[in-house]
Amino acid sequence: MTTSAAIAEKKKVDFLPLKGTDYVEFYVGNAKQATHYYQTAFGFEPIAYAGLETGRRDAASYVLQQNKIRLVLTAPLTADSEIAEHHKKHGDGVRVIALEVDDATYAFEETVRRGARPFMPPTVESDEYGQVVRSGIHIYGDTVHIFVERKNYHGVFLPGYRPYRSLIPTIPTGLKYVDHMVGNVGWNEMNIWVRFYEEVMGFQNILSFDDKDISTEYSALMSKVMSNGNGWIKFPINEPARGKKKSQVEEYLDFYNGQGVQHIACATDNIIETVRQLRSRGVDFLSVPSTYYDALLDRVGKIDEDVAALRELGILVDRDDEGYLLQIFTKPVEDRPTLFYEIIQRKGARSFGKGNFKALFEAIEREQMLRGTL
Ligand code: FE2
Repeated sequence: MTTSAAIAEKKKVDFLPLKGTDYVEFYVGNAKQATHYYQTAFGFEPIAYAGLETGRRDAASYVLQQNKIRLVLTAPLTADSEIAEHHKKHGDGVRVIALEVDDATYAFEETVRRGARPFMPPTVESDEYGQVVRSGIHIYGDTVHIFVERKNYHGVFLPGYRPYRSLIPTIPTGLKYVDHMVGNVGWNEMNIWVRFYEEVMGFQNILSFDDKDISTEYSALMSKVMSNGNGWIKFPINEPARGKKKSQVEEYLDFYNGQGVQHIACATDNIIETVRQLRSRGVDFLSVPSTYYDALLDRVGKIDEDVAALRELGILVDRDDEGYLLQIFTKPVEDRPTLFYEIIQRKGARSFGKGNFKALFEAIEREQMLRGTL
């Protein structure tokens, strides 16, 4: 095989090589206060800022980082911008899932050629620290992917941002990287977005859960997990399914006013320590009945962790053919019952905790009951 044929073959296998999640941008009502929450409660360090003082007139953005996870919190400064419109419609939520690529122009051209709706043509931004090329496409709801090519840039975040230092120290909680990000889509739309990720982004469907896997006495959902070529980016896609009562996905769609990101799973190497920290700083988690732990070891076999600590903190465990995982879910972090976080520690397992679905969804239903939305 010639070199060019080998390259062509590789592009056929993975025409959109992704180097990781570059950043996740939220549109929020008050970025200054949200930054304080993510810093003090979750341990993200504020590192960069753009706003009135840097010459930006329409919005203020704070960039926060913990290991490989980078969040951007953006709030509108005027009433008539798309940021203000987004916030009015959705409340605080994810606008951008940014993916790092080697070539943002190629990523745009190739995904658009394959059917993506363009959001931002390839755009070069530069300052004294070099240049960044970004481009973007629309995905479900008002959410977008932005491709970031930053190999020629060594500034703090992006051109237009200046370094930012908090007045208080940041104490990390051990969150390492984004393990997966889940999208909630509408009735009968899951397969549309599965095809989108397959055809436009070159992802593969690695796992599927139907309403028999994910249902309780009252409500149900369906989910398919999409993974990119190197397996670093995983996007499960959920849609509601019929049950006796309202699915949690439906509740999300109602309050978010459409499709969007449901949860962000952050990986840790020590879930007991991470969750202890998060709890002590006021992060609110879902809880499962104590009986969950009575049968735990019969279900998952031997694990390294002390079950008493898991029980105390409400951490769930599941095992698959390759190993096991520990996970826990926060309550929604906004007033609207929309986006929440998952904290996950993988010990060999590459699955998503199917054995915990029932206990977990019953916990969510108890919360829905309190909200009057079940
Ligand atoms: Fe998850």
